[in-house]
Amino acid sequence: MPAPDLETVVSLAKRRGFVFPSAEIYGGFANSYDYGPLGIELKRNIREAWWRSMVRERDDVVGLDAALITNPQVWVGSGHVANFTDPLVDCKKCQRRFRADHLAEGTYGEIVRDANGAIVCPFDGGELTEPRQFNMMFRTQVGPVADDSSVAYLPPETAQGIFVNFDNVAQSMRRKLPFGIAQTRVSFRNEITPGRFIFRTLEFEQMEMEYFCLPPKDRDNPTEYLELHRQWITERLNWYINVVGIAPERLRLRDHEKDELSHYSAGTTDIEYLFPWGWGELEGIAARTDFDLSSHAALSGKPLTYFDEETNEHVVPWVIEPAAGLSRTLAVTLLECYTEEPDEKGETRVVLKFRPNIAPIKVAVLPLSKNEALRPTARRVYDLIRPLWMSQYDETQSIGRRYRRQDEIGTPLCVTVDFQTVGEKGEPGDDAVTIRERDSQAQVRVPISGLLEALRERLPGA
Ligand code: GAP
Repeated sequence: MPAPDLETVVSLAKRRGFVFPSAEIYGGFANSYDYGPLGIELKRNIREAWWRSMVRERDDVVGLDAALITNPQVWVGSGHVANFTDPLVDCKKCQRRFRADHLAEGTYGEIVRDANGAIVCPFDGGELTEPRQFNMMFRTQVGPVADDSSVAYLPPETAQGIFVNFDNVAQSMRRKLPFGIAQTRVSFRNEITPGRFIFRTLEFEQMEMEYFCLPPKDRDNPTEYLELHRQWITERLNWYINVVGIAPERLRLRDHEKDELSHYSAGTTDIEYLFPWGWGELEGIAARTDFDLSSHAALSGKPLTYFDEETNEHVVPWVIEPAAGLSRTLAVTLLECYTEEPDEKGETRVVLKFRPNIAPIKVAVLPLSKNEALRPTARRVYDLIRPLWMSQYDETQSIGRRYRRQDEIGTPLCVTVDFQTVGEKGEPGDDAVTIRERDSQAQVRVPISGLLEALRERLPGA
């Protein structure tokens, strides 16, 4: 199925409690969104899936949770104070401000040029100022006095908390190279380009891992290091396909050109997704060399090295960094799983085809109607399921409409309690329920005594 248009998914996300425009009652706030009850479940599940494959299922990666607001020297050492900048231009007519690189990529819509071929304001054709560099970090103040000595920064990436803790983790966990440190955190960037939904926001969650290895024998020809980079690219691409469930044809790899590399990177490959507006970055896998550990060691005066027992030398490890955006993966998951198909009446059925591990609600318990006779058994079934899987109980509206609602929020299984379950007109019930599968709409009857086992079989990884 072709990708849905963005508006359709944004509208469903709001209507069904995934993502809301932030502070909507005050007119919203550019590039900020709030996550609703289903959005936070979806986000947790994606984060959990990442953590499981990056940390729990490996024996060479450990976790970390570093402070967000920390010593501002961290951002001097990392190079962000000096280099984390983007080129900004202003329209001389309407005073609108743009990122020059985004203008040239067509992010603001059609690229408009004057008679000489120079890019002009896409809104009113006004001439643009020369680009000037603008630092994307948010500054804040720590303590009651607002002066230069109290400046602190909101982190624009999670990575630096990992680098400054390299020695603490290596020593406390008695780690030998190669090993990784993983972290999922919120990051902040002063983004001025109007975002496309949650693709680009002021605050967003990242899932980052720094994988430390021995420095290459030949710095100018680091074959083992480049091989490790390649392995992580494959590993991460497979995660999106096999764990999140993204179709391979809507994913591609793109190597950064030399002039677009971040200040810390010797080479970066992006995993890109085919968004409704074209290819866009989902994750960057960067070869950060020893840039960060060396810079922090130089500025702090504290060595950030590893003792290589083979060579009897202290060396500065090199790093491969797979850096994924959690909020962006959530946007991709919604776009990817959105499906419209005809139902048995020829009407359109909207389904979010989440994998069971990602779906916010795994099971919905739906008594056939609001009839009092059904409720005690339906509640008993719900009580049985609730401790094991995120589930919902719903008895309002017709059963058909409730199935449609669960399809729209991507619930893989519905369990229906009917009069055959509880019995009627003095006849005993069979104490069995119907499991209805979201994608096939197939229904199967199972005894309540075997229900948990039947659900477990149908919810792999959930
Ligand atoms: N530590 C490396 C780093 O931060 P990045 O490519 O700037 O690299 C990694 O960011 C990922 O974070 C991106 O691939 C993207 O998924 C996500 N990301 C970056 N800026 C974002 C923003 N403003 N809004 C949402 N996600 C963002």
